[in-house]
Amino acid sequence: PRYIWLSRHGESQYNLEGKIGGDADLSERGFKYAQKLPDLVKQYIKDHEKLTVWTSTLKRTKQTAQYLTYPKKSWKALDELDAGSCDGLTYEEIAERFPEDFKARDDNKFEYRYRGGESYRDVIIRLEPIIMELENQENILIITHQAVLRCIYAYFMNVPQEESPWMSIPLHTLIRLEPRAYETLVTRIKADI
Ligand code: G3H
Repeated sequence: PRYIWLSRHGESQYNLEGKIGGDADLSERGFKYAQKLPDLVKQYIKDHEKLTVWTSTLKRTKQTAQYLTYPKKSWKALDELDAGSCDGLTYEEIAERFPEDFKARDDNKFEYRYRGGESYRDVIIRLEPIIMELENQENILIITHQAVLRCIYAYFMNVPQEESPWMSIPLHTLIRLEPRAYETLVTRIKADI
């Protein structure tokens, strides 16, 4: 069978501070996940099996992939949902500085587009080439960001696009998708760190 593996980057400094966006380094815990990842992957992918690792262009995904010895490719299309003016803020700060936006997003998280940034719908559109490429590939491990993974996950799970913002994609968990003709089988593997 052919698998698509998904993982968020390890916990970042921004995750710790509750800030969104940015291009932060991994936290200490995030680095531990990066160090564990090769062994975790090896439990499921035999040495003779091919695997390619895709990351975004942001540091936290490349740092998460750094100990993996498979061929790698980084894609701008896998970068996190662009929060525009809210980039680098906490949700509290957003609610304070842009109360109307905060409410608008709460009312329609799928369509809400950050000022100078993106909506979930925008992310789905820019993911199209990624999805196309995935259909042609063998085993791929995608190390990217929460909002992006929610969209990819919803696509393969046949969940309506509008529900993408509510998919649960926890940190430090490998998700294995096995696309079949009429359904996709899912295995979740939690790293214990
Ligand atoms: O800003 C990007 C976050 O990873 C997505 O979180 O869409 O639930 O705010 P959120």
